[in-house]
Amino acid sequence: MTITEQTTVLITGANKGLGRETARRLGAQGWTVFLGARDDARGQAAAAELAADGVKVVPVSLDVTSDESVAAAVRLVRDHTDRLDVLINNAGAPGTAVPPANATAEDVHSVYDTNVYGPIRVTHAFLPLLQVADNPRVVMVSSAGGSFAVVTDPGQPVSKMHELAYSSSKAALNMLTLRYAQALPNIKFNAATPGEVVNHTFAATDMNNHMGRLTVTEGTDSIIRLATLGSDGPTGTFTDRLGLIAW
Ligand SMILES: NC(=O)c1ccc[n+]([C@@H]2O[C@H](COP(=O)([O-])OP(=O)(O)OC[C@H]3O[C@@H](n4cnc5c(N)ncnc54)[C@H](OP(=O)(O)O)[C@@H]3O)[C@@H](O)[C@H]2O)c1
Repeated sequence: MTITEQTTVLITGANKGLGRETARRLGAQGWTVFLGARDDARGQAAAAELAADGVKVVPVSLDVTSDESVAAAVRLVRDHTDRLDVLINNAGAPGTAVPPANATAEDVHSVYDTNVYGPIRVTHAFLPLLQVADNPRVVMVSSAGGSFAVVTDPGQPVSKMHELAYSSSKAALNMLTLRYAQALPNIKFNAATPGEVVNHTFAATDMNNHMGRLTVTEGTDSIIRLATLGSDGPTGTFTDRLGLIAW
């Protein structure tokens, strides 16, 4: 079956947290949601819940650290559609916040595999499907911790949270966003952070032991805005829930 009449979106790491809420919100707009999850049981459970609420959803087995898994995900999506309108690189790993003096290359590598090489793997593999869409959009789910401006601001709590892997992986993701945007002007590449930088807030999810002050719905506002950009929308931007933020 080929579905060309509905907007299509693939979301990585969509079995819970912000990815799942993004799937719910875009599905509620009538979009066809390819719900990526590295664990099939978790992905199918999340997809079944959304389907029960009327969302057109296809669970997709997708581990962003595996070339084979990503290739199989492309084949599955191609079984359903001849184009992909929106890709949301949401899957992320927090790492274990090892202090910089103790961090090894291996500690950092495992976080980069998910947060940096993952979006490259997935974007590269899905580019052919994106390039045939009328208004293709890629949303990179980044973090305020990846902003040099935020991390060097002594008023921001993240400036006092000493770790290497997560913040530098998201800084790399931000640069990837810009470089893709410059090289591929027919596709919108934008980065979102789920919080409100000026208010030092983020969204309560498993990743932060539900310490965030924002709900997952509030946390996905920036992601939804970038996913639903019209053809005259921007590319190469970094935004939070309230608007543009500094790189
Ligand atoms: N919460 C915030 O306020 C906040 C702030 C800044 C940035 N972010 C970013 O937002 C994104 C979503 O995070 P979240 O807060 O929603 O956390 P979460 O609830 O822990 O969700 C993370 C998701 O990523 C998936 N994932 C991890 N490694 C993966 C892999 N190798 N392949 C595929 N999926 C993988 C997880 O799958 P499993 O269930 O299988 O582990 C889960 O579905 C992340 O990129 C995070 O860095 C969140």
